[in-house]
Amino acid sequence: MPALLRIEGAGLSRGGVEILSGVDLEIQSGEIHSVLGRNGTGKTSLACLVMGLSGYELTQGRILFNGKDIAALSISDRARAGITLAWQEPPRFEGVSVQDYLSLSGDGKPDRLEPREALALVGMEPDLYLNRMLDEDLSGGERKRIELASVLAMRPRLAMLDEPDSGIDSLSIDTIDKVIRTIVKRGAAVLLITHRENLAEIADRASAMCGGKILKTGQPDEIGRFFRNHCEDCAHINAPVENDYRVFNALAFRGPTLSPSGEGGERK
Ligand SMILES: Nc1ncnc2c1ncn2[C@@H]1O[C@H](COP(=O)(O)OP(=O)(O)O)[C@@H](O)[C@H]1O
Ligand SMILES: [Mg+2]
Repeated sequence: MPALLRIEGAGLSRGGVEILSGVDLEIQSGEIHSVLGRNGTGKTSLACLVMGLSGYELTQGRILFNGKDIAALSISDRARAGITLAWQEPPRFEGVSVQDYLSLSGDGKPDRLEPREALALVGMEPDLYLNRMLDEDLSGGERKRIELASVLAMRPRLAMLDEPDSGIDSLSIDTIDKVIRTIVKRGAAVLLITHRENLAEIADRASAMCGGKILKTGQPDEIGRFFRNHCEDCAHINAPVENDYRVFNALAFRGPTLSPSGEGGERK
């Protein structure tokens, strides 16, 4: 069986600047895969590229969904194929109620989740929110929760969640974990984008991202350790290459000499 999502050597430029290059990433059906990286490393751009937003066209490589090249598909074709993105900054919709938004998300899907049920799963009291408008009166955190509820209602095949824990009144990791497991139980794989190691670690596999590249893919605890040791307060300016001594030398103040694999010299 082909991977659900297979990104091969993907490159992306915006405004003449190379944002992503040589990105390889594979997500299997039913898998939770986290992409862990600091701010500005290209995580959101990668999600926008997979979703097919305008201005986010591949400059190199391929993206396959269920074995089919999706480069020529519009954003709505990709949504119909089952790809969805919960935004880091969810949009506001004037004149659309929470009930409308969640009903539309589940529209036409068999085994749809009722808006009430979807809200309860993200820790929101349905009676307090169903008739609220999706406008600026909702806090950022409330809009993030509603966005996750809409992903639940939508029954996607691939749910990309961009920093689901961001925002002031944000969801706890336990709640996000529960929501993600519900999404998976309902038949989707999850691409979990985060800059928090402890959130990344709820995944089945993880990839560390920096400078528009995937540096390493592996078990979440291993990737979390890599991030903690090399990325969390890294001295370089967002342009590392794994195994590059020039990069890792910048980190040498942390202790023992780093090994060629970049795995040595870990902080306690
Ligand atoms: N239109 C653009 N023109 C030039 N650079 C951009 C543009 N959009 C994003 N970038 C740059 O791309 C990099 C990756 O951004 P982003 O994908 O938002 O990172 P992350 O989500 O990891 O914080 C950042 O350095 C950002 O400044
Ligand atoms: Mg981002």
